[in-house]
Amino acid sequence: MNGEKLGRFFSRAEIQDVVGWSNFFQTVPGVRVWEGGPPAYSLALSRSPESPLSTELDVINLMYDLSRFLKARTVIEVGIYKGACSLAIAQALKDNGGGTVHCVDISDAFFSPIAAAVKELGGGVDAQFLHGDSAAIAAAGKLPNANLIFIDADHSYAGVRKDVDEYWPLLMPGGALVLHDSIMWEGVRKTAAELFAAGLPVISLATSGGSGVTLVFKPLAKE
Ligand SMILES: C[S@@+](CC[C@H](N)C(=O)[O-])C[C@H]1O[C@@H](n2cnc3c(N)ncnc32)[C@H](O)[C@@H]1O
Repeated sequence: MNGEKLGRFFSRAEIQDVVGWSNFFQTVPGVRVWEGGPPAYSLALSRSPESPLSTELDVINLMYDLSRFLKARTVIEVGIYKGACSLAIAQALKDNGGGTVHCVDISDAFFSPIAAAVKELGGGVDAQFLHGDSAAIAAAGKLPNANLIFIDADHSYAGVRKDVDEYWPLLMPGGALVLHDSIMWEGVRKTAAELFAAGLPVISLATSGGSGVTLVFKPLAKE
């Protein structure tokens, strides 16, 4: 299958009931060494006609597993919509022993229900909400350093590139920055390719709805 045909195949594929499509933690035998997963209400918010902007089910599971793998205590999600991934991350933080998920969005429409769900989760997990343009919020120094940063806001090349440039310095060494839509959206795809070309450790994966996801790891500081 050539690249163009493969692209058409992935953008047609609508496979909702999967955890392993893009999630190597649940695909490669022996890699997943922890129990648990996102809460049912997080999974129920995955992409559907009622939640068209939500991430796919496999990406929600990937964000849970990645948060567990990194033993994350501080996570930033840039572009949260209804909170499908924010709530999966919150559950992972609880399972890691507690932490904070920082939720950044230009719309505050879903801040209240997400805050209520995180509060109900308990377990030493806190959600902080930042309302406004994502790059401007990071540039204003309103966020802490984080183990994991999920970028899923303005999908134009200029928007994603600006987000990466502003959020990368906040990523702790050994942490991961995740770009959603790195197959389907040209601006995200170009940004992911630039990070690979810059010599960073990059993994791009197909996802069940055809959006694609790219993981970029920040190398540990040399002694
Ligand atoms: C695709 S949705 C995010 C989906 C979410 N990550 C999930 O797991 O379901 C994109 C979100 O980005 C937000 N957004 C778009 N442009 C933005 C910007 N410049 N700054 C902050 N948020 C933005 C939108 O309001 C929307 O909630």
